[in-house]
Amino acid sequence: MANSLFAKKPLSLLLEEMKGENRLRRVLGPVSLTSLGVGAIIGTGIFVLTGVGAHDKAGPALILSFAVAGIACVFAALCYAEFASMAPVAGSAYTYAYATLGEMFAWIIGWDLVLEYAVASAAVAHGWSAHFQDLLKSFGFFIPHSFASAPIDFDTAAGRFFTTGSYLDLPAILITIVITFILVKGIKESAVFNTVMVAVKLVIVLFVIVVGVFYIDPNNWHPFAPYGYTGISFFGHTLFGQTGSNGVPLGMLAGSGIIFFAFIGFDSVSTHAEEARIPKKDVPIGIIASLLICTVLYIAVSAIVTGMVRYDQIDINAPVSNAFAQKGLPMAQRLIDVGAITGITSVLLVMMLSQPRVLLAMARDGMVPVSFFGAIHEKFRTPWKSTILTGIFVGTMATLLPIRILAELTNIGTLLAFVIVCTAVLIMRRTNPLAERPFRAPLGSFTPIAGIVCCSILMFSLPVENWWRLIVWLLIGFIIYFSYGRRHCVTARIRRGEVIVPKE
Ligand code: ALA
Repeated sequence: MANSLFAKKPLSLLLEEMKGENRLRRVLGPVSLTSLGVGAIIGTGIFVLTGVGAHDKAGPALILSFAVAGIACVFAALCYAEFASMAPVAGSAYTYAYATLGEMFAWIIGWDLVLEYAVASAAVAHGWSAHFQDLLKSFGFFIPHSFASAPIDFDTAAGRFFTTGSYLDLPAILITIVITFILVKGIKESAVFNTVMVAVKLVIVLFVIVVGVFYIDPNNWHPFAPYGYTGISFFGHTLFGQTGSNGVPLGMLAGSGIIFFAFIGFDSVSTHAEEARIPKKDVPIGIIASLLICTVLYIAVSAIVTGMVRYDQIDINAPVSNAFAQKGLPMAQRLIDVGAITGITSVLLVMMLSQPRVLLAMARDGMVPVSFFGAIHEKFRTPWKSTILTGIFVGTMATLLPIRILAELTNIGTLLAFVIVCTAVLIMRRTNPLAERPFRAPLGSFTPIAGIVCCSILMFSLPVENWWRLIVWLLIGFIIYFSYGRRHCVTARIRRGEVIVPKE
């Protein structure tokens, strides 16, 4: 019984399934894949969470927070790239875990990816709403307070929830409904459409850098690290750095813990492996190039924003556009709002597209009911039931919870997924040393181990309540796994002789 929890989906079966008829067309080259990656990455993280990161956690040292989170992601990205080159199939980290760590870990990671995609989408929807409202405000219009934000927020200082006086974040829900509708009907994942969105986003980010540089006052960078350079705690006990009220870690690393959100999405390149022209080469290039481009841009933007406005004056809802408003540049503010809205929309599209795809991969393996999660719409050819369910989930989360809680929960879940992927690379190298690895993460075991260490540090730099939320989330997942997936998954069917494994 215990051993079967670690039963692995044979690599030969995985590769055999790839030869099926439903293969997607191989049309994406390294530039399109990099552009997809950038499209999935730049959004609410840089345009919104920079505010909380600088104001509450790190001060101007947020610039270093971006560098640290970027480095942690590079290690994880190299591990993703190694897997993506070995098994270029949809499903991403979930599929890799099933082939290496076995069914229970595959379930954990699949369940965890709901945090990465669906919960992140709710946070992203709030970011969209913040910029939409900022744009309206610049023209003198306001959404009534009752419909402007989530009804509750969390007071980290007091360690308790409080009511905001609002009923719901109406713009966040409306954009979720619109995106769900588009995804059910099916978007032609037109490279042109994506390229236009990415271009708008990049132009705005470059605009922030090129124009903002003239408004920097170097005095704003002093003190550079008002909360120190660390910020790591262990279940409420600060190990390194300053502690805010209620045991919340503060400092540069604590800043990394929150703005890590800005990097999420690079792994979505690996979900396009089936559509890559030369997946073994182009997917690693796409993952790593998009991550490096974003890291450089983020470091520049955070330097600009903290240089333009003193860290304790930075707006926490729309920090980038508001920095320009504070300098008396309303046109620039509007331009940035429009760019942020466009950019965040493209992130939301990718995130809400990825969630049903992961569920589809899990349904095909029998981890979740295939009749529901594997249902493809007759006319639109999309996984419509799970897309609608994802939309309802995202809309509900965006209605009930504030961005900070959603972003931190996403971060801890995604970091756990990265730790598992890095571990899986180490294991796979031992158990399948001879398997073809067109791309191998460099520096031997150093890269996966560094990925595990860096991502774990970032997990411990998040406020403790996130650990409890993650544990509760995983416990709910275990209940579902043991009552359904355990009996229906493909490895259970192999054990019962219902599925024949092809020879390696
Ligand atoms: N990285 C994505 C964003 O910042 C999730 O919106």
